[in-house]
Amino acid sequence: MNRSDQPAIGILDSGVGGLTVVKEVMRQLPAERIIYFGDTSRCPYGPRPREEVLRFTLEIVRFLEQFPLKALVIACNTATAVALDEVRKRTSIPVLGVIEPGARAAIRTTTRGRIGVIGTQGTVRSRAYEKALRRSSPHLYIVSHACPAFVPLVESDCGGTEEARRVVESSLAPLKEHRVDTLILGCTHYPLIANLIGEVMGEDVHLISSAEETARELKAMLAQRNLLASEEHALLRDHHFYTSGDPEFFRRIAERWLGCSLKVTRAAAETPISGSL
Ligand code: DGL
Repeated sequence: MNRSDQPAIGILDSGVGGLTVVKEVMRQLPAERIIYFGDTSRCPYGPRPREEVLRFTLEIVRFLEQFPLKALVIACNTATAVALDEVRKRTSIPVLGVIEPGARAAIRTTTRGRIGVIGTQGTVRSRAYEKALRRSSPHLYIVSHACPAFVPLVESDCGGTEEARRVVESSLAPLKEHRVDTLILGCTHYPLIANLIGEVMGEDVHLISSAEETARELKAMLAQRNLLASEEHALLRDHHFYTSGDPEFFRRIAERWLGCSLKVTRAAAETPISGSL
């Protein structure tokens, strides 16, 4: 088997947000090969109509299916809320989303049963977290709040600025009066500014990112199907990152977040890539 034949984990997002899931997959499953697609040129997905998010997601899935895949992770809450069921119907590869894992982690963590959910307009409108949380814990106090200004901050790499602090403070102000003990970062971009969100919410609020639990679920699923890569595969492992935006800009953010050097190529989800994979 050569590098490009090794079945990979396909991971997708509207941009750099899914890298928060990639980081956990790399930590928990270091022998696995990852093929990532970030749809930076069409980000954000949050304010878009459902039909459009569904169409974009299905395009990316088809793009990723050019590669030999053993699993697919929709590392985007907005796309998970809209497209998870449809993607599962259309592919034989096992598909994971990030909402059920995030909800499970929050239920394990909450101390007073008061859970906040922040996400894109699309995710909040779908009420997907509320439904997932209530399925196992019907009596929780849940408050959901859209923070549409956060994704542009992360995608423009401005998370460390004073402007970012002002934006985060004003966006979270309406949530603070609900005195939640646990806050779900219901958008995979948000862990990239988790420090700031944590400072604004206060140290007694537990922040939940779906990434860790999603990677754990992926590992269990691969183990159950006997699909885990062996150590010997780790030597062949060859990650590849695709973005529909500027590859240099994407690479800068991705390498800083993941702490390793990466191959990043520009590609459009609508167009299959040609030549060697
Ligand atoms: N990272 C995505 C999410 O988890 C989408 C952000 C966006 O494109 O609006 O919802």
